[in-house]
Amino acid sequence: MDADGKNLHRVSESPVNETAPSVMDDGQVLYTRWEYVDKGLGNAPSLWSVRPDGSGSDHVYKNNTVWPAAMSSARSIPGSKKIVTIAGGHHFTAVGSVVLVDTTRSRSDIDAMTSLTPETGYPSSMGYPTTKFGTYMDPYPLSEKLFLVTHNPGAKHEREIVYGIYALDAWGNRAELCRDPQYSCFQPIPLRPRRLPMEIASVARAEDAKDKEQSSSLFIQDIYQGMTGIERGRVKYVRVMGALPWLWNEEGIAWSLGTDPHRKKIYGVVKVHQDGSAYFNVPPNENLFFQALDENFMALQQMSTFVNLMPGEQRSCIGCHEPRKNAPGMTSVRSLALDQPVQTMTPQPGDTGPRMVDFAADVQPALDKHCVACHGGEEPKGRLDLAGVPTEKYSRSYDNLIGKGLISYRDCAYGQAHVMAVPPLTHGSHRSKLTAQMLQDPCKADLTREEFIKIVTWIDSNVPYFGTYRGKRSLQDKDHPDFRALPLAGK
Ligand code: HEC
Ligand code: HEC
Repeated sequence: MDADGKNLHRVSESPVNETAPSVMDDGQVLYTRWEYVDKGLGNAPSLWSVRPDGSGSDHVYKNNTVWPAAMSSARSIPGSKKIVTIAGGHHFTAVGSVVLVDTTRSRSDIDAMTSLTPETGYPSSMGYPTTKFGTYMDPYPLSEKLFLVTHNPGAKHEREIVYGIYALDAWGNRAELCRDPQYSCFQPIPLRPRRLPMEIASVARAEDAKDKEQSSSLFIQDIYQGMTGIERGRVKYVRVMGALPWLWNEEGIAWSLGTDPHRKKIYGVVKVHQDGSAYFNVPPNENLFFQALDENFMALQQMSTFVNLMPGEQRSCIGCHEPRKNAPGMTSVRSLALDQPVQTMTPQPGDTGPRMVDFAADVQPALDKHCVACHGGEEPKGRLDLAGVPTEKYSRSYDNLIGKGLISYRDCAYGQAHVMAVPPLTHGSHRSKLTAQMLQDPCKADLTREEFIKIVTWIDSNVPYFGTYRGKRSLQDKDHPDFRALPLAGK
């Protein structure tokens, strides 16, 4: 917002929540993003940046790194490329150790971190940090060597403690500046004049910004960059997907067996040209991620985080993925995608428009039609029961497909997924026994191409069960009219 409180505008979008913004030296807004797109639970809150006009949302540090569980209250250090932040617990993101991060070293590797308060350690995923050496909050850097911090010097339980304001230096020495025996003090900020951060011109064109629905566009230069082991020509489409924001007033988020709490949407697919390029429109203000697909709409690689775009924003990336510090490669030929008008996404075969991924709506009807005659009843063939009978949390077919290891998916349990993104074809439909079985006798039966695509799309979405946050999900509500509601169109 402006200094007088006017012109309040949203600069970020998230499926969970985004917190603790501060303006960096270079004028970008640094903040904590919390999301669960196909990554380990319990280590989600990471550092991201965005321009003050809401464009160019970008990863700064962490993402999949398991320890520390979360980073928050980050600030850029004046005159330095480093960031100071709190390394905290998953559900108590803002309390923990004071850590310096040097993103010129790495954007995900722990080598980039130096803890200034190692005696405090990193709080665990869910637990509150209760070390006898105390904990820290709200670091404010005066230089690379000196910080103001909120600190409690240690007690058995956090509720007995009073926080005060301290000075902390790069060697871990600290001096009390202000501590009231009764009241906690937080968020020290120097009152003396400071250098203003750089001002970044808005790239969102004013007339476009008025139209909240106006599409944004993306250009991928060569999707094969970073796709180790995938031969040129194999990628035919990009599927544009999204993670829907949680509804905070719902009765609780139902996890799927892949432990992914997000509901996932398919916006559509776009063609990838022979040279790996693609240029296409996407909806603004959504949490978008991408999958590279082969001719059967099976995923070769997927992006396990998201970006959002402002209305009218245009953005490019190189591949799927090179390290994101890389500049685009030199080419003497113009990308094929740029010789054509910007593509509009189209529904993939079997779809009529954007839709949610939902097991009961997408997969079960095909199982009922083609599979349960053999895989149902008293003695199911292959000892595999694919009936859609509701079970405590999901359904018998879903429990069996996943429980018997017939699907390959990314396990997002606590502490899973670390530092590096996985190479193409690590998980998904290409690695699932179900896919192979559906293509051979006696199981292939009369499964249509559209039905096959719906099933592999569900696998590659990392096996979500529910397509909506709405409705009653517990089996004890099975007679309720809203029991396991199907998603409303596109939601
Ligand atoms: C289908 C392949 C693929 C495509 C296409 C793709 N990405 Fe990604 N992206 C990934 C993977 C894999 C990761 C790593 C996620 C992780 O940390 O586990 C990633 C991560 C990211 C990150 C987080 C930082 C990082 O490097 O880990 C950003 C930002 C990002 N992508 C932006 C983009 C943009 C912009 C585009 C172009 C429109 C794009 N991506 C296209 C696969 C893809
Ligand atoms: C004509 C009967 C028949 C139909 C129809 C049929 N299957 Fe099968 N299926 C079998 C038999 C028999 C086996 C066990 C022997 C084998 O592996 O070939 C089996 C095995 C399987 C397995 C491997 C189970 C395991 O634990 O390894 C899967 C997965 C499977 N079927 C999925 C399906 C799906 C999905 C459909 C519907 C698209 C289907 N089948 C339709 C007869 C059938």
